[in-house]
Amino acid sequence: MQKTELEQRIAEALANPKNMGEMASADAVGTVGSPNCGDMVRMWIKFKEDKGRKVIDRATFQTFGCETAIAVASVATELIRGKTVEEALALSGTELAADLGPLPPMKIHCGQLVEGALRSALAPSEQLPKTAPPAPAGGSLLENFGSDSQKPRAGGKIVFLDPK
Ligand code: FES
Repeated sequence: MQKTELEQRIAEALANPKNMGEMASADAVGTVGSPNCGDMVRMWIKFKEDKGRKVIDRATFQTFGCETAIAVASVATELIRGKTVEEALALSGTELAADLGPLPPMKIHCGQLVEGALRSALAPSEQLPKTAPPAPAGGSLLENFGSDSQKPRAGGKIVFLDPK
C-alpha cells in the first residue's frame, strides 16, 4: 500500500531522528503528559548569546510517545534553534510540525504534546497550575519511572495538558 506524504515524512524523521536524548547541561527542562493517550514528552533547552540576544542553542527531547510525537519533536527541535524564547513561544503546534505537513485531526494532540513540552521548558510559570503536586523530573524520562521516581528533584515537574 502506498504511503501518504505525511507517513513518508514521519518515516524519514524516524529513520534519523534529530536531537533525541537527555541533555546533561540544559538551562531549562519541561515535561508534559497527554491525558488523551497517556504519552509524555520531555524537552531540554540550552541557550547561548548571539549578538546580544539570548537564543536557543540546542534543544533535545525524550518521549514515551507515538511515532508522530517523535517526528514532531525531531523537526521542532531543529526549527527552534537560534530563536529567542519569545520567538519560540510564538510558534503554534502546527508551525512546530510544519516540516511534516498538516497532521490529521487524530494526531494533532501529538504535536500539542511537543508544543506543551517546549512551553513548559520556556515559560514554566505559565504552565504550572498553582495546585500542582510535586512530580518527578530531571534526569531521563525512564529514570523517573525507576525506584526513586517518587522523589521530586530540583526544577522538576510534569504538566498534564488539558484533555480535548
Ligand atoms: Fe500519544 Fe501521539 S498518540 S503522542
